[in-house]
This record gives sequence, structure tokens and C-alpha cells, in this order.
Amino acid sequence: MQIDLRGRTALVTGSTQGIGAAIAAGLARAGARVAVNGRSEERVRAGAAELEREVPGAEVVPVAADVTTQEGALRVVEALPQVDVLVNNLGVFGAADPLEISDDEWRRYFEVNVLAAVRLIRLFLPGMTERGWGRVQNIASDSAIVVPAEMIHYGMSKTALLAVSRGFAKQAAGTGVTVNSVIAGPTHTGGVRNFVYELVDRTLPWEEAQRAFMRRYRPQSLLQRLIEPEEIANMVVYLASDQASATTGGAVRADGGYVDSILP
Ligand SMILES: NC(=O)c1ccc[n+]([C@@H]2O[C@H](COP(=O)([O-])OP(=O)(O)OC[C@H]3O[C@@H](n4cnc5c(N)ncnc54)[C@H](OP(=O)(O)O)[C@@H]3O)[C@@H](O)[C@H]2O)c1
Repeated sequence: MQIDLRGRTALVTGSTQGIGAAIAAGLARAGARVAVNGRSEERVRAGAAELEREVPGAEVVPVAADVTTQEGALRVVEALPQVDVLVNNLGVFGAADPLEISDDEWRRYFEVNVLAAVRLIRLFLPGMTERGWGRVQNIASDSAIVVPAEMIHYGMSKTALLAVSRGFAKQAAGTGVTVNSVIAGPTHTGGVRNFVYELVDRTLPWEEAQRAFMRRYRPQSLLQRLIEPEEIANMVVYLASDQASATTGGAVRADGGYVDSILP
């Protein structure tokens, strides 16, 4: 399968690091013009420069904007009036005692993880349907289905994203635009390495350390190691392609088999 995204413009929210940066690189490698997004000019500039180094010849558009606000979202539209592939990757996560999560914190999780995605879909979906082609992807998590007791607010926001994806796919029915969620599992992003070494023997080499961590703390994973960000990106690149035209309204898993179910 040859995936060719030349002529397409992609926006990946929260792409100065982690899974977002890997998705931006994957889309650029497939030929798309890619907008790198984060909150500060400095980090976006650095992320864009890193992407250009990683994918020589890539067409990269740096877009510094806090997309969790209406003003930020409008700034993105100003910089990038046409988006063909929208990847709502931005998301916050953290552990909290469920009985101690304040109303404001519940609202913050909803606003950052759900409403920011909805707002961008509202802004970019009409253009996609008018042009008769588009791809919207919302990056969800295993926590959408296996809701962790210490991350109920996070789980809630990711479950909501599954519903948002299904609903907007119906809105786009028959237009050539697909809308899906990608269920990412435990992934090897910045900070995770330190987190792992806080829990397992520090003298173990990384490969063994992460496997020991997964065995003990994430035994549901069939992969039995952390997922590399590029492995999530591969799924996103495929869903962004012409070849994925029949996949819409779904929740597609790149979770290392973490969710113990056959569907989705
Ligand atoms: N890591 C995992 O194991 C895992 C597992 C399942 C699902 N996921 C999901 O995958 C997605 C990415 O996770 P990650 O671990 O790669 O995240 P991360 O390393 O924390 O990166 C978050 C990104 O979002 C940007 N960002 C934060 N707030 C922003 C805002 N208001 N406006 C614009 N950009 C903003 C950050 O850039 P700046 O700091 O430069 O603004 C950064 O580039 C999230 O939706 C997460 O829930 C992650």
C-alpha cells in the first residue's frame, strides 16, 4: 500500500512533543503539509525545526495557539483556512483521588480534552464536506473503555470523544469525509521512562525495565511493552489516507491489545 498525502494539509493539535510530534512526522513523511501546534511560539518553532530535520523537504506550518480557547481556535483558522486532515491529539491527563476532583477540574478536562476538539471540528468540517474529502481523527485512550479509578475525569473525557467521533461521522455521512477515534494504549512518551524507573529496578536496561513494568503494572497489555509513538502515528497516517475511505464512525485501536474486548 502506497500512502500518498501530497496536496493535503494536516493540522495536529499538541504536536510539539510526544504522540502528536510522531503523528506530524508520519503525515509529513507521507507527503502532507503539516501544521505543528502548541501553546508557545518558542516550542512550536523548535517542534517545526525538529520535524524539518526529521523529514527533509517537509512542508511545515508552525501555528502557536492555545486551541482550548475560542480565540486560539480562530487564530488557527486564520493561519490555516483549509485543513483536510484534522487530528485532535491534544489532551491532558493525571491521577487524582476521584472524591477530591473539584468541579473546576471536571470542567477543565471536558474543555481541554473534548470541547477543544469539538470546536475545531465545527470550524473545519464544513469546508471538508464542501470539498468532498476530509479526515477527522480524535485521539482517545484505553482509559475511555477501561476507566482507571485514579483517572475518572480523564476516562470520562476520552469516552466522550468516542461519542463525539461517532456523532460527527453521522453528520458527515455520504460526503467523502470520515471521522474516527484512535484508541491509543500505554505509550513511550517523555516522562514515561522516569515514571517506569520509579517503579522498577533502576539497574535494568530499558527494554527489560519496561517489560517488568508492563508485567507488573499493565498486565492486560498483550504487547507486554510500551507502544512507541510511531506505532500510534502509523494508524493515524493510514486513517488519513485515501485507502481508509470505508472506515468511518469507528473507534480504531492501537492499544497493544490492552482493552480486553473484541469490539471495537
Ligand atoms: N502517553 C500515553 O501513554 C497516552 C496513552 C493513550 C492516549 N494518549 C493520548 O494521546 C494524546 C497525546 O498524549 P502525549 O502523551 O503525547 O501528550 P504530551 O506529551 O503531554 O504532549 C501534549 C502536547 O499538547 C500540547 N499542548 C498542551 N496544551 C495545549 C493547548 N492548550 N493548546 C495547544 N497545544 C497544547 C503540548 O505542547 P506545548 O507544551 O508546547 O503547548 C504538547 O505538544 C493525548 O490526547 C493523550 O490523552 C496518551
